[in-house]
Parts: sequence; structure tokens; C-alpha cells
Amino acid sequence: MSHIKIPKTNMIVDTSIKEKSLSFSLTDDQRDIQAIVREIAEDEFAPKAREIDRNHRFPRENFELLAASDLCGLTFPEKYGGVGLDHISYAIVVEELAKACATTSVLYSAHVSLTASPVYYWGNEEQKQRILTPMSQGKKMGAFALSEPGSGSDSAAARCMAIKKGDHFIVNGVKNWITNGIEADYYLVIAQTDPALKHKGLVALIIEKGSKGFSFGKLEDKLGIKGSSTCQIIFEDTPVPIENMLGNIGDGFKVAMSTLDGGRIGIAAQAVGIAQGAWNHAYKYSKERVAFGKTINQLQAIQFMLAEMAVEIDTARLLTYNACALQDCGERFTKQAAMAKLYASEMAMRNTVKCVQIFGGYGYVTDYPAERYMRDAKITEIYEGTSEIQRIVIASNLLKEQ
Ligand code: CAA
Repeated sequence: MSHIKIPKTNMIVDTSIKEKSLSFSLTDDQRDIQAIVREIAEDEFAPKAREIDRNHRFPRENFELLAASDLCGLTFPEKYGGVGLDHISYAIVVEELAKACATTSVLYSAHVSLTASPVYYWGNEEQKQRILTPMSQGKKMGAFALSEPGSGSDSAAARCMAIKKGDHFIVNGVKNWITNGIEADYYLVIAQTDPALKHKGLVALIIEKGSKGFSFGKLEDKLGIKGSSTCQIIFEDTPVPIENMLGNIGDGFKVAMSTLDGGRIGIAAQAVGIAQGAWNHAYKYSKERVAFGKTINQLQAIQFMLAEMAVEIDTARLLTYNACALQDCGERFTKQAAMAKLYASEMAMRNTVKCVQIFGGYGYVTDYPAERYMRDAKITEIYEGTSEIQRIVIASNLLKEQ
């Protein structure tokens, strides 16, 4: 049997090794933010989640509270109105929100990771001052517009046109499934300048609500996350000043894909939060519900379900934090974000179904939150790239590594 020996040089005590080693515990700052957001979410958002779902109501007041709590610019530097925390903190915030109200977690992540982040990473100084700063302060809300009626997974097939005329683009086309739909102020729109160039012709533009020729289609009636305003947006000869372009003409596809890397971490965290929220309810119910003369948490069938769910939730959380940690190191994290999103979303679906099962008949009625968690979980397998797209991204990155 062969033995792998640690090279002797690595055995010399080196103080820098401690700093470089992988930590599995949260920092004090991360624990603080977790405690703060948990309190806000439990006190303010959870009690309203059922009403928001029933009435398909966009909880504007929740966004305002997130803004007042300095959470809208969490990962951006202070000079752009943010608080400069890391992406693990961001995942913690999204998870805590999703545990209480999935609608609130998605309106927040669409604002931070899908719209404000690309302005931070791709914008110039003037754009960061003018567009990012009010977004960080929560004075302006963001929305991300990539999909179209005829293109979802195949982003490069976008047909919304942006034709440059002097110092403006003239935009014509329709974008689908826009989260924060009619509520946002700034829309990050990926448009085509020359269809012959395919993905290399795409451009990323910030289009402001109220621009000429910019209107909204119908609000979608969804299975879950019912409070997050989702609609089509329509552009008819909409002029967009060139100073609202992120990067250059031709950068649009890379802006979209790099933005989705960060966005997928947000969806993974959302899925972890939904699953954890469902687990918490199932656990509480199992301690109260009596069957066969004992509370059902004393039945091994229920214990096994709770145990398996807990293992899967922790696994998904670790995958999510791993992707965040790579992002914070400035390394490429495309594969890890896709892995986290794929595993967490499918885990959330499996575990919310188990939560309904633990509740039995009460899981199937709207008096209890179990069915809402199950409906809210489904979208995490679809938006910001379906599970099938995540498998493509993971596989293509694995092949490149070989
Ligand atoms: N970061 C930076 N650049 C990237 C990148 C990334 N993550 N991924 C790809 N690129 C670059 C490549 O390097 C390549 O560059 P060059 O042209 O210079 O060589 C270029 O982009 C093309 O890359 P690919 O050949 O890999 O692209 P592809 O056409 O094969 O497609 C895809 C890739 C994975 C299928 C991609 O289209 C994709 O992710 N589709 C899913 C889109 C999606 O998630 N849509 C959801 C919409 S958002 C939403 O859900 C709404 C909401 O509000 C929540």
C-alpha cells in the first residue's frame, strides 16, 4: 500500500498558513449581520408572508426597511453608499429573508446581485456615483432584463435591438419575466446591436423608468413568490443615452453571464433559506402533533426525514458559502456558483415536499405555511438558469479544467 507523505517543507510552522486555512465558522461581523437580519425578518417579514402571497402584493415597505437597515448596498464600498461586507454576509442576508418570506428575498437579490452589482463591476466612476450610490441607499430599485419571449436559456439569441444613433441608442423589443417588474427604477437591459455578431453584438444598458416608449406588459400570475412583481417590459423607440452603457458594445453577454454568477449565489442562498424555513416549521409541528399516543417527533419515520433534510440543507449552505468565499478572493467562481444553485434548488424542492408530508393533510391547506414553501421553492430550479443550464455550466467548466 502506498503512502502519500506531506513534504517536509510544509511541516515548518508558518504563521501565514493559519490565515490561508479554510474556516468553517462565521466571523463576528457575519454573526452580527445574521442576528440583525434574523430579527428583522422574524418580526417584520414573516408575519406578513401569508398575506403577501394571498394578495399577490409587492411588499414595498419591506424594501424600504431593508434600505433603512443599510442592507441594499451590503457588498459595495462606503463611497458608493454601501457598507463593504463580504459575499458570505450577502448569502446570510438572503437566507434569513427567504426563511421568513421568499418574495422579499428575491426582490432583494434582484436589486443587489442582478442590478447594482453589474454597475459596480462594469460601470465607470461616473456611473457608480450616479446609478450605484442611490441603489445602495435603497433610493432607487433595480431589475434585470435578459430573457425574452423567444429566448430564455439561450441568452445569446436576444432580439431586443439597440441601434446607436449619435450619443443615444434607440431600443426596440420586449423582455420577459422581469423581477421587480413595474416597481423598479433602473432596468439593466441586455440588447442586440447586430444579430450577425450573435453574443458578441450584445450591449448592457441601464434604462430608467419613465423613458420615452418604455411600458409594461401584464403582471404574471405565478405559482409561488407571488408578491414579487413579475412582468414583461416593452421598448418602442426608447432613447437611451450612451452614458448608460455598462462596458462597451459587445460586452453585453459577459456582463450578463458574470452577473448571473453572482445572482446564482443569491438563488442558492434563497433555496437554503426556503428549505431551512420549511424545516423549522416541520420540526415545530412534529413536537406538537400527537399520533399513536406520542408526539410525531418521537417516530423514527419523522426523525429520519428531519435528519436527512438537515444534512442536505447544511450541504447546500456549505456549497453556497464556498462559492461566496471564492468570489471574495477575487477568483472565478462560475462553476461553484452553478454547483451551489443546482444542489440548493433541487434540495429545496425535495425538502419542502417532505415538509408538506410531515404536516400531512395540514400541509396541503393554506392555513399552514408548508404548501407556500413548496410553491416558493420551485422557481429556484428555473430562474437565473434552469437546473439543466447549471449542469451545462458545471460540465463545460469541468471539461476546461482537464
Ligand atoms: N463570466 C464571464 N464571461 C463568460 C461567462 C461568465 N460566467 N460565461 C461565458 N462567458 C463568455 C465566454 O468566455 C465566451 O467569451 P468569448 O466569446 O470571448 O470566447 C462567451 O461568454 C460565450 O460563452 P459560451 O460559449 O460558454 O456561451 P454559450 O452560448 O455556450 O452559453 C449558457 C452559455 C451557459 C447556455 C448561457 O447562455 C446561460 O447561462 N444561459 C442561461 C441564462 C439564464 O440564466 N437566464 C436567466 C435569466 S435571469 C432571471 O432568471 C430573471 C430574474 O429576475 C430572477
